[in-house]
Amino acid sequence: MTSDNSTTRQPRILVVDDDSDVLALLAKWLKDEKFDVVTVSSGKDALAQIGITRPDLVLTDLVMDEMDGMALLSEIHRQKPLLPVIMLSGQAKIPDAVKATHLGSSAFLTKPVEKDELIEQIRKHLHLSGDNSNGKIPFGEDIIYRSSVMAELIEQSRAVADSDITVFITGETGTGKEILAKAIHDASPRRDRPFIGVNCGAIPEQLLESELFGHEKGAFTGAMTQHDGLFKAADGGTLFLDEIGDMPLDLQVKLLRVLQDFQVRPVGSVRSVPINVRIISATHNNLEQAVKEGTFRADLYYRLKVVPLSIPALRERPEDIELLLDYYLERFSRKRGEPKKSFSPEALSHLISAPWPGNVRQLINVVDLCATMNKTDIIPLSMVQKALGEEEGDLRTLKDAKHSFERDYLISVLQLTKGQVASSARIAGRNRTEFYKLLNAHNIDPADFRKPPGN
Ligand SMILES: Nc1ncnc2c1ncn2[C@@H]1O[C@H](COP(=O)(O)OP(=O)(O)OP(=O)(O)O)[C@@H](O)[C@H]1O
Ligand SMILES: [Mg+2]
Repeated sequence: MTSDNSTTRQPRILVVDDDSDVLALLAKWLKDEKFDVVTVSSGKDALAQIGITRPDLVLTDLVMDEMDGMALLSEIHRQKPLLPVIMLSGQAKIPDAVKATHLGSSAFLTKPVEKDELIEQIRKHLHLSGDNSNGKIPFGEDIIYRSSVMAELIEQSRAVADSDITVFITGETGTGKEILAKAIHDASPRRDRPFIGVNCGAIPEQLLESELFGHEKGAFTGAMTQHDGLFKAADGGTLFLDEIGDMPLDLQVKLLRVLQDFQVRPVGSVRSVPINVRIISATHNNLEQAVKEGTFRADLYYRLKVVPLSIPALRERPEDIELLLDYYLERFSRKRGEPKKSFSPEALSHLISAPWPGNVRQLINVVDLCATMNKTDIIPLSMVQKALGEEEGDLRTLKDAKHSFERDYLISVLQLTKGQVASSARIAGRNRTEFYKLLNAHNIDPADFRKPPGN
């Protein structure tokens, strides 16, 4: 019987190189430092070994036949986003280094590499060096959770924040995709540079290209001045491509090219300019499905989905609900300078088991509504049901909701004025003609309000 001494075992390093001399040399260096070393001569073997020997770090050559280091890197990160990968390259090519860091490599070293530097980098990325500033930066302090699924997600996010690795966030509407993206930026070395979000679905197709990449003066009708574009505006920082699933196909091609070359060509310009941004994208759509249907390009999808982070819907983590309710009740009362209200036990258990199709955003709205409408300190179940829109069955269309609100409003004003049209119109801020029109539209007769009750 052997015990798994994982706490005391030496860190295991998988070394990948198709040159057997280099492989032997690297292995010797690492063994000298008491690392546990596994060597393979191809990317394919490397992927097989990762599943079997579970290395703590991968050291790979960039240029190899068959599968090169870059392809290996993206595959590793698809399978194990947190596994550190150090890339070695024959020539120092900046674009390769940039690409590698976006694909998630922890470090990019140029051959011939010094033994000391290599060992230092390895120790650093195994977090073995004395100075580990990783834990010092607070992460997502405004993200409230208690569930273990969220704890795991936050841990993953924290781990990738530190690098330039491309992150892809999925989750239903209102689950917190944007606050997670911002948290990653705020914990990254880019935190002092801009975080720029763009909703790819909200900008008209013709404008999106120049919004993103910029344009030259006179590039198209209406382009009166030169415009930098959001890639430029986010220089040194993070560009958050929100609702990426809504990006039109022809722009997807252009975006892919930008992410491959790390250069943008403004509309109407003949030259490309280098960019330095970290990309975080998000979508509430099922992009896998979109890829199958041909509305989203597979190559762009894989380029964006280097580290996939999926935020569970609120109903899948009911443990978080009470904490979130409490947090937002507190914030709300502080903002209003009122004493903090609370939910009755029945109201609370109803909230915990509600389906929350709008997730945390809906929860915030419900808390706001309940705290505003409820005049006592304890919010009862009936108020919660009203705020959840359950009284009326399923959610109505805005038009229906407006119509019924208008009707209720007219009735209360007429009750107040006992059917006096002139004063009712004044309260409603309408002239008499308009007010009569409204009454007609709702089939309300003001005379009904003039009769004394009971007659
Ligand atoms: N875990 C959380 N703790 C505290 N607040 C949260 C949490 N998750 C989301 N929120 C809040 O909920 C609201 C919605 O979050 P956010 O905008 O990040 O969601 P989203 O997934 O981007 O939504 P959409 O798909 O509609 O764009 C924001 O006000 C955000 O601050
Ligand atoms: Mg959003």
